[in-house]
Amino acid sequence: MDHFHYHNGELHAENVPLARIAEQVGTPVYVYSRATLERHAQVFREGLADLPSVHLAFAVKSNPNVAVLKVLKEQGFGADVVSEGEMRRALAAGIPAADIVFSGVGKTRRELAAALEAGIGQFNVESEEEGEELAALAAERGVTAPCALRVNPDVEAGTHAKISTGKAENKFGVPYDRAAEMFDRLARLSGMNLRGLAVHIGSQLQSLAPLEAAFSRMGALMEAIRAEGHHVTHMDLGGGVGVPYREGEQFPSPADYGAMVARVCKGWDVTLMFEPGRVITGNSGMLVTEVIRVKQGVTAPFVVVDAAMNDLARPAMYDAWHDFAAVRPTGDRLTASVVGPICESSDVFAKEREIDSVQTGDLAVFRTAGAYGATMANTYNSRALVPEVLVSGDRFAVVADRIEPAAILAAERVPDWL
Ligand code: LLP
Repeated sequence: MDHFHYHNGELHAENVPLARIAEQVGTPVYVYSRATLERHAQVFREGLADLPSVHLAFAVKSNPNVAVLKVLKEQGFGADVVSEGEMRRALAAGIPAADIVFSGVGKTRRELAAALEAGIGQFNVESEEEGEELAALAAERGVTAPCALRVNPDVEAGTHAKISTGKAENKFGVPYDRAAEMFDRLARLSGMNLRGLAVHIGSQLQSLAPLEAAFSRMGALMEAIRAEGHHVTHMDLGGGVGVPYREGEQFPSPADYGAMVARVCKGWDVTLMFEPGRVITGNSGMLVTEVIRVKQGVTAPFVVVDAAMNDLARPAMYDAWHDFAAVRPTGDRLTASVVGPICESSDVFAKEREIDSVQTGDLAVFRTAGAYGATMANTYNSRALVPEVLVSGDRFAVVADRIEPAAILAAERVPDWL
């Protein structure tokens, strides 16, 4: 459920007509609904209500806007970060350092040091090499690094190959079969407080079965590690559940997920940690665009919009579906391809799809664009970096400016020897 709805024939975000935002801020523009973010945060938390000890860390990668982070901080979420930049954003939003988890396979020495100095709550260590480096950096500073060892459970997630992370051939985590001995070695290093395990097998999973298989394997590993005399007090179970992008798609709900976790992790006696991203932010955002023109094609017309693959990369990168809808629908329908202005054949949002009929100058939206949308935007073809707006009830605010090509040009130099 979200708080985008038609009122008097016009699409609104909460109580604000999208047309008003487009008029004042221009297009393309991402629009987020605070009430939807809050609702999704609450539904996810309620789904886990039966678990004894839970830590929620919002996956900042899905939407790192600092205002969005502030909304989630108010909902009691910590942050799962994968770079120093994301960590700085989480801190800027007021998320306590102790509630920050640092994941990622390529944390640099500088990032490890910065996170130690900030005093973050947990490092999810992805290799023995990283663990050794982190322990040494911590020991030099006279501190201990709270850590979980990320394990690759070698489970087929059944999602898009580009967002699957838990197969042996993926770069993430340490091999399952060697995890117990690595845990033993790393736990002995001074500077290291190895207190748990972490796992994440992929995003947008349609079924709970692969997650259940991965969590069961982690339970067995935890028992083996405990049998060696180690304390395991934290288990990080990775990202959230998937979200429907098109009508008819079915995904496990947070409540289904929570029930599975309660069953599989019964008696573990750990703090269970979660890093949901998409399930919180996905349906909380839309990309608003204006139709530049409708061009006749051989097999179907092309609706050319002012948003492009640089603003919303998911269709071009993962063949992802985003519903397209008119802001002021007439009731007429049209079969057309919706495309952006970029000079690439992959700059296509919808291929010969039945959509609301639109004409030059009309406003339209791509739905479910709040996760992995603005954050993956770039300036390809010297286009502007897309702005972001947050709506709350009757109010809205620009929470990220449009960065114009002139500003990007101003950051470039021609050396005097040219
Ligand atoms: N934790 C870890 C370690 C992750 O790698 C991810 C996502 C998450 C949590 C959050 O997963 P979520 O709850 O959002 O499913 N750009 C792609 C998605 C990449 C996801 C990468 N990792 C897309 O647009 O579909």
